[in-house]
Amino acid sequence: MEQLGTTVIEYILDEQAQAPEATGAFTSLLSELIVAAKIIARETRKAGLLDVLGSTGERNVQGERVQKLDDYGNNVIISRMGNSGHLCAMVSEEVADVIEIPDRYGQGNYVLVFDPVDGSSNIDANVSIGTIFSIYRRVSEGEGYTMADVLQPGRRQVAAGYIIYGSSTMLVYTAGNGVHGFTLDPSVGEFLLSHENIRTPERGKIFSVNEGNYYFWDDDVRAYVDHLKGKDGSKPYSSRYIGSLVADFHRNLLYGGIFMYPADGKDPRKPTGKLRLMCECNPLAFVCEQAGGAASTGGMRILDLEPLDIHQRVPLYIGSKQDVEEAEAYLGGERPQ
Ligand code: AHG
Ligand code: MN
Ligand code: MN
Repeated sequence: MEQLGTTVIEYILDEQAQAPEATGAFTSLLSELIVAAKIIARETRKAGLLDVLGSTGERNVQGERVQKLDDYGNNVIISRMGNSGHLCAMVSEEVADVIEIPDRYGQGNYVLVFDPVDGSSNIDANVSIGTIFSIYRRVSEGEGYTMADVLQPGRRQVAAGYIIYGSSTMLVYTAGNGVHGFTLDPSVGEFLLSHENIRTPERGKIFSVNEGNYYFWDDDVRAYVDHLKGKDGSKPYSSRYIGSLVADFHRNLLYGGIFMYPADGKDPRKPTGKLRLMCECNPLAFVCEQAGGAASTGGMRILDLEPLDIHQRVPLYIGSKQDVEEAEAYLGGERPQ
């Protein structure tokens, strides 16, 4: 009889069985999120055929153009997860304030933070996009939520990961016991274990950055990127940048390398870089560290940052440990040879 392979729920239940403090609530929360991901995957597959391409004509809290699939993904996750009964609050990249959970749905002990569609400027060009998620346990007691439940440092995440809608649809997640990848088998509609215990190479040969911002970077960032390009006679890295964080991150996680979004002086509204600490950097930093990599602002560990605001932006240097350490040395004014 043909074996189906291990489904993500079987894998999570097995992990739960080994973690005495884990409760069924967490597993049920993740399984709801997986249903939402399957729904977004279905729409993404047909994006060219449905009215989900292009922009809504609106701008979000980030001041960015909202793509129809951004809106669609955001609504799917909020509606499905809001009534899961396991959350006390949600934070979405697309929503200005913390999303409350209506009493009628019952409240739980977790906070979900997410970027419903990452890389959305690429949707119309059929380039891989993703969904990024992060889960925290609440720290307060009683009804509703407090900002202490929401503004937690990334090191307190209980789980994090992403779904990448690419040549195949993959779920990559960690619950603190390594990083595991599951590929959607459309014929049965299940995510099946395909990449158990992903480890990222200590050092890579790829760097990913938008060099269009080169003249807005400070000298230390320019010196580091010049080094990666072999200006000082070192062996050059390959440059790979697709403009979807999830796609760039996933490739570098598997192959090795460093992704950067430095602070740049280009947009005075975003002096500390474009990427969001809570919805993008913290979840990917948790995954990266669990795979043996590192994630830094260039000056400190991403997971140790105490968030000041749910939409706070930070510079991001993430990937192979030795590459991130070298980036931090350059940004500290050193010129390691
Ligand atoms: P989002 O689509 O969720 O707004 O994220 C877009 C981000 C990220 O996916 C990508 O790495 C970055 O924007 C690309 O920015 P630039 O076009 O400025 O390079
Ligand atoms: Mn994003
Ligand atoms: Mn987004």
